[in-house]
Amino acid sequence: NWNMKNFVADQIELVKQQVGGRKVLLALSGGVDSSVVAALLLKAIGQQLVCVHVNHGLMRKNESENVVSVFRDQLSANLIYVDATERFLTKLANVSDPEVKRKIIGGEFINVFQEEARKLEGIDFLGQGTIYPDIIESGTKTAKMVKSHHNVGGLPEDMKFELVEPLKQLFKDEVRACGIELGLPDYMVYRQPFPGPGLGVRCLGAITRERLEAVRESDAILREEFEKAGLDKKVWQYFTVVPDFKSVGMRNHARCFDYMVIIRAINTVDAMTASIEKVDWDVLEVITNRILNEVDHVNRVCYDMSPKPPATIEFE
Ligand code: XMP
Repeated sequence: NWNMKNFVADQIELVKQQVGGRKVLLALSGGVDSSVVAALLLKAIGQQLVCVHVNHGLMRKNESENVVSVFRDQLSANLIYVDATERFLTKLANVSDPEVKRKIIGGEFINVFQEEARKLEGIDFLGQGTIYPDIIESGTKTAKMVKSHHNVGGLPEDMKFELVEPLKQLFKDEVRACGIELGLPDYMVYRQPFPGPGLGVRCLGAITRERLEAVRESDAILREEFEKAGLDKKVWQYFTVVPDFKSVGMRNHARCFDYMVIIRAINTVDAMTASIEKVDWDVLEVITNRILNEVDHVNRVCYDMSPKPPATIEFE
């Protein structure tokens, strides 16, 4: 009989048979799929799993720290943490075209991952969080892609690895159930979708450190307040965006010229269309006041009322 407990036990056995005494490399972003694969491989082969977490500097507040604390400190995984923030921000400086930004982030991610892979010796396998919908989507070669996506760190031709993909038969909800079965924390398993290019596509136009911090801090406040209001379990995706222009305001009786934060909260079934969440005004007021008081260089907060289409969920 099929149940998640048996599935996990079977996959652990299969991975052991496939890998034997050899080593598996895994790009661990901290997203649901890569986290669940990491937990499963860890149970199967322990220290023969080498995880690489690349922090591109565009992660949400405390996100990379949480990956390290769960996988290295709590689960004792063999985890290489690479802080590539400076490298990414330097490459992205003065680049304002959204597609160019996405390509730089995706390309640089692969470069950093490859460099780490080359430093390691005796790796025969590449673990991947491929799930069933990934296989169907690449099979039908979706024509609807509006933005270039990247998720998986590809590897150069001369580095041939055999793939280990224990989740490839599962749908997303089953992957989450698998994560719970493996003992991962709820916040990791039930987290909302987060794009590969991270906050980079929410700090609009050419990324500056000042505005990137404003996105990161306002996003943290939004998530904290949504959790308090119980909206984190109800709303499909919610985040903040900071455009690259300023507006006039007043602070301490003086004119100020600062950035704005846009709040976006949407519901969807498949991310192809989306409708806005009609967030309670009192909740929005609390969030607005906190952002205006706690986030530097921000003097205005707006709420995005747009459905998809014509707007996409992300701004870039
Ligand atoms: P859009 O903005 O196209 O987004 O309406 C649809 C959904 O996809 C997410 N998204 C990404 N997910 N890699 C991902 O894994 C990406 O590069 C990427 N870009 C957008 C977006 O957050 C939304 O949930």
